Amino acid sequence: MLVQFNIPSTILVGAGARKEVGAQARRLGGSRALLVTDRQMEKSGYADQVIPSLEKQGLAVTVFSGVQPDPTDRNVLEGLSLLRECKSDLIVALGGGSPIDAAKVISILANNELPMSQYAGINKIPGAGLPLIVIPTTAGTGSEVTKAAVITDTERDIKMLMLDLHLLPTVALVDYELTLSMPADLTANVGVDTLVHAMEAYVSVKANPMTDPIALSTIRLVAKNLLTAFKEPGNRKAREAMMLAACQGGIAFSNSSVCLVHGMSRPVGALYHVPHGLSNAVLAPVVTEFSVPGAPARYATIARTMGYASEKDSDEIAALALVKGLKELNRELEIPGLSQCVSVDLHRFDEKVEKMASDALASGSPQNNPVVPSAEQIVDLYHKAW
Ligand SMILES: [Fe+2]
Repeated sequence: MLVQFNIPSTILVGAGARKEVGAQARRLGGSRALLVTDRQMEKSGYADQVIPSLEKQGLAVTVFSGVQPDPTDRNVLEGLSLLRECKSDLIVALGGGSPIDAAKVISILANNELPMSQYAGINKIPGAGLPLIVIPTTAGTGSEVTKAAVITDTERDIKMLMLDLHLLPTVALVDYELTLSMPADLTANVGVDTLVHAMEAYVSVKANPMTDPIALSTIRLVAKNLLTAFKEPGNRKAREAMMLAACQGGIAFSNSSVCLVHGMSRPVGALYHVPHGLSNAVLAPVVTEFSVPGAPARYATIARTMGYASEKDSDEIAALALVKGLKELNRELEIPGLSQCVSVDLHRFDEKVEKMASDALASGSPQNNPVVPSAEQIVDLYHKAW
């Protein structure tokens, strides 16, 4: 097996990493930066923690805060037009997965032709984008270290998944201090997203010796720290550990893959605007139960790493304990069922569920799962999570 492993060329991890943005931008030769973020980040003063560092190094900064949750092709085009207007030569992304993913695609569109829909899929982007410095403010998506971006195609009502090395940020500044004021529900959602990244990277048919130890480290960090970060938002040790987990989880899945949970989660987000981490969390227990027969030993190792089973337990018992443990974790994190996340009744949901199953399969992620489902089995899993 030939393994390829890619991460940003520079990753700074630790308190205060955000303050290095100016020095990093200068090192990369930037003179006019486009800061891609969202209104909330701008309003709550996060942008002000980054702009002075850039200006101090002589960079002119233009702020684009028009990225919405589940970023759309329209958000990206708006940012691109501002970038052209200001002749920006470097992009800084600040925020959760949404501004980061939007910034990645703005960066590649600066040097590649439209329409962006032609870049959905694997390795479809011909040329490199502008230098990109990424500063995550949630501990979850891992987008700061991945070659993936998810953008909603507003015409077709689908989430386009782009996977390409040209989407890999140049620099990631991983600073847990930016996560200290994350609200509890967001902490829960993105924390389970991190766990799912690591689990899927570990059970994927693309799992490899480079990603396995990183995935298990992520799982261990989440097991020890997620509930503490959820219950005690100001706990710096737990926040620091979850930020590290998010970064490691991103590295793991970007160099292995995500699988069926993410494949099924994207259509839920595209149609019902359920936050990404929440739809993953809701689906994780049923998808795990379905997938165990394809990789029982791997799921058993995850269960033991989470502390749900011991070395003495058989793989079968450990894998069962994992499904039970994931349900219990959702309960402790106050994560509701699928029916409460989508704002429709089952009859309405069923009108679109076949499209959701086919969109899930079309994304390619379910094909990495230890058990590759049929469209009917995906419909059945949506119903089980209902
Ligand atoms: Fe994710």
